Amino acid sequence: TFVVTDNCIRCKYTDCVEVCPVDCFHEGPNFLVIDPEECIDCTLCEPECPAQAIFSEDDLPPEFTPFIELNAELSKQWPLITEKIDAMSDAAQWDGVKDKLKFLER
Ligand code: SF4
Ligand code: F3S
Repeated sequence: TFVVTDNCIRCKYTDCVEVCPVDCFHEGPNFLVIDPEECIDCTLCEPECPAQAIFSEDDLPPEFTPFIELNAELSKQWPLITEKIDAMSDAAQWDGVKDKLKFLER
């Protein structure tokens, strides 16, 4: 399973959604998540993210462990997204800022 992590928050570039063959991505106000029950580990989304926010669960940096549960939980609540939309207006400013979990909107 692939996991969307901290650096997506407040960026939400959405390049990832276009390449997913099985429509895994769900959209919240300022973050996207992957439904772990749908992901087939095709690896296509990982290099598409300009913010490098997507990791395989197998090589997830330890500080992002809470994102495993968060992707599972929020993918049940948020609607599917399958087409790219505009990034958040201040995405460039937030790209690379650490510890953005406190800004997550649900
Ligand atoms: Fe979709 Fe493949 Fe990414 Fe899983 S690894 S979310 S199947 S694009
Ligand atoms: Fe987020 Fe990267 Fe997709 S910033 S929306 S995981 S392209």
